[in-house]
Amino acid sequence: MKTNNKEIKERAHKINWREFSAMEEKDKIVFLNNSQTGNPFHVLFSQQFDRKILDLLCKVADKARLIHKNRDKGRKFLKSLLFGTFALNFFSQPSSRTFLSFETAQEILGMGIRDIRDPNTSSEAKGESMEDSIRTFSSYVDLIVMRHPEAKAVERGVWVLNRSDRRIPIISGGSGPDQHPTQALLDIYTIYKSFDRKVDNKTIIMIGDLLRGRTVRSLSYFMKNYKNMKLIFVSPRHLRMKKDIKDFLKRHKISYQEENNFKKVIPLADVIYMTRIQDEWDKGKNKQKSHESVGQGFKFKAEYLNLMKKKSILMHPLPKRDEIDVELDYCGDPRIIYWRQERNGMWARVALIAMIFQKEQDILRYKIK
Ligand code: NCD
Repeated sequence: MKTNNKEIKERAHKINWREFSAMEEKDKIVFLNNSQTGNPFHVLFSQQFDRKILDLLCKVADKARLIHKNRDKGRKFLKSLLFGTFALNFFSQPSSRTFLSFETAQEILGMGIRDIRDPNTSSEAKGESMEDSIRTFSSYVDLIVMRHPEAKAVERGVWVLNRSDRRIPIISGGSGPDQHPTQALLDIYTIYKSFDRKVDNKTIIMIGDLLRGRTVRSLSYFMKNYKNMKLIFVSPRHLRMKKDIKDFLKRHKISYQEENNFKKVIPLADVIYMTRIQDEWDKGKNKQKSHESVGQGFKFKAEYLNLMKKKSILMHPLPKRDEIDVELDYCGDPRIIYWRQERNGMWARVALIAMIFQKEQDILRYKIK
């Protein structure tokens, strides 16, 4: 897909990488979203999505899912939407869910799929710059999904392609500590589905490593799109939510509080969002410290189910370790939603890719016979 916006390209040409990366996120949005539709083109962070786009994405995900149930005609129709186009999944940081759900979403939409998971097998290992690698990748495909261990790596890819003759979309699947916007999309879609398509008026507990978890940061940014949302942050003292997110919440008048006593706040929650301790960022002795400090206070024990509201959900972006009692995995309680949340990720990504390629109306208009 070629850019429909000459102006963006002309402006992008005048901005060097240092200037681009130093810009505030809200000022980068014009370089990321499609200026005609307002939908995302490149996907780097949650602030690119307003309420209208999020509602549309949830509707498209629901409809695509329904169409896919029609094994013959429905599936063929979905496959026809992006037939003949190609996607590259360039994942040089570990991933199971994000990688597989993107790959399957692309296949549902009929895309051909290429992947690079080990940078040692690409020319970066011969000293090729990231810029040259990304430009090379863009020669063969129509979409790049990228996960990278370094901050700003995907953003740099966006900067490169905005200036190149083949401006194809890049979606971030996570870039070091930067945001993980597509996880936040599937989280919102999961809340939407679980509460009869109503996301407003929810109290959400986010618990665990709020300092380094990229999913909770991205999800927090989405709160400004909904009415009367309340966030309760529960974390070890040294892993608290960063000031930038708290400032954002204050600026947008979104209520939040920090709590130490997890058990006490469980009855207040519509959504409990568990996260793991991100100890891959710890060096040496800190690794041990991270775990010791967590203790039992930040875990979900089986008996806590009795404290949860009847209509509430327990989410986790996964992978999990021991922060949720394993017996809950198979207990059959409908509030245990994290396995369904994984699958929702595939449909949220189908919807996102369809919207990037402006196929959402085809999906919404499709009549299931
Ligand atoms: C998360 C990630 O990679 O940030 N995983 C995911 O994409 N579902 C969460 C994590 O690694 O803890």
